[in-house]
Amino acid sequence: MFDHPEFDNHERVTFVRDQASGLRAINAIHRTRSIGAGGGVRFRTYNSEQEALTDVLRLSRAMTYKLALSGLPHGGAKTVIIGDPRTEKTPELLKAFGRYVDSLEGVYTCAPDVGTTTEDMDTIGEVCRFVLGKSDQGGNTCVPTALGVFNGLRAVASHVFGSDDLTGLRVAIQGAGGVGAHLAGHLADAGAEILIADIDTAAAEDTAARTGATVVGCDEILFADADILSPNALGAVFDKESIARLKVKAICGGANNQLAGPEDGDRLRDRGITWAPDYLVNAGGAIAAAAMAGVFSDDEAHAKIDNIFATTREILARSANHKVSPDVAAAAFAQELLAKAP
Ligand SMILES: NC(=O)c1ccc[n+]([C@@H]2O[C@H](COP(=O)([O-])OP(=O)(O)OC[C@H]3O[C@@H](n4cnc5c(N)ncnc54)[C@H](O)[C@@H]3O)[C@@H](O)[C@H]2O)c1
Repeated sequence: MFDHPEFDNHERVTFVRDQASGLRAINAIHRTRSIGAGGGVRFRTYNSEQEALTDVLRLSRAMTYKLALSGLPHGGAKTVIIGDPRTEKTPELLKAFGRYVDSLEGVYTCAPDVGTTTEDMDTIGEVCRFVLGKSDQGGNTCVPTALGVFNGLRAVASHVFGSDDLTGLRVAIQGAGGVGAHLAGHLADAGAEILIADIDTAAAEDTAARTGATVVGCDEILFADADILSPNALGAVFDKESIARLKVKAICGGANNQLAGPEDGDRLRDRGITWAPDYLVNAGGAIAAAAMAGVFSDDEAHAKIDNIFATTREILARSANHKVSPDVAAAAFAQELLAKAP
C-alpha cells in the first residue's frame, strides 16, 4: 500500500466488508482538515481490486484539491463500492456502508457520485448522521455545478480568446444530463452557438428545443469543429488517440476525471489546447452541498461559485507562465492553499 504509485500519504485507507449484504468497499481519506473530510460514493464494477484501489486513491486526492481550490474547509476523501449498481445495490448493502461511515463519527461525510443517487443517500441516512445529498437537503446538485462550469468556461474564453463574452463562440457539449442541459441554458443566454450530443437522443433533443442547440452524433461531438469542448458525460475522454483528433482550442466541462492519465494534461498542452481542470470547474455542487449542511450561508456559497471564474483564470495564467499543464498548476496552487490553512 505505502509503495502504491497513487499513494500520496493518504491518512486512512479502509477496506470495508459486510459479508451478509455482500458489501465490498474501499474508503480513502486523503486529508482531514478543520472539519473532517468529504467525498462521494462511487458504485461500479472494476476489473480488479487493484484497479478499484488506484481509482479511490486518485479520486480522494483530487477531492482534496477540489475542496481547497473552492475555499471549502474539508479535506478530500472518496469511497468506491465494488459491484454492478444495477444488480448488486440493495438497501441492506447501503445501510451496511452507512453504519461504517457513522462509526467514523464525522471524520468522513459521504455524498452521491457515479452509480449512487439521492435515494441511496436517503437509505444510507437511515443509519448514518454524516451524509449529504439526501432529498431533504435539496438532492441533486447539477444546477450549481452547471453554474460553476459556466463560470469556468467564461474564464477559459477570456484566457484563450481575450474576452469572457461568449457571443458567437461555438461550444460542443458532450452529455445533456443534469449538468449539460443546465449549462446549455446558460450558454444560450450568453449568445453562444451550441452543439450537443447524448446517447439518450431524447435528452439531447429536449435541450436543443429549449436552447436552440444543434444535435450532433455521439461519435462526432468530441471532434466537432468548435471553439470550446465541454465534456459533461463520462470520465477518461482524453487520451493519446482522442487528443490527436481534437479540433477545439479549449476544454471546460463538468465530467470528473476527464484525463485518462496525468500525461494527457501535457499532451493537451503540447497541442496548444487549454484545459480547465474538471475538479476546479465542477465544484459548484460540492459548494452547494456544504451550504445545505450549514457549513456556510447561501450567499457565501454563491460567492464561492462566482469565484470559480477568478480561480480558473489564476490557474490558467500560472500554467502559461510556468509552462506546465493546468492540471499541474492547479495541484500546486491547491497545495499552497493547504499549506496556508492546513
Ligand atoms: N451533478 C453534479 O452535481 C456533478 C458534480 C460534479 C461532477 N459531475 C460530473 O458531471 C458529469 C455529468 O453529471 P450529471 O449529473 O449531468 O449526470 P447525468 O447522468 O445526469 O448526465 C450524464 C449524461 O451523459 C450521457 N452520456 C453518457 N455517455 C455518453 C456518451 N458516450 N456520449 C454522450 N452522452 C453520454 C447520459 O445519457 C446522460 O444524459 C458526470 O461525469 C458527473 O460525475 C456532476
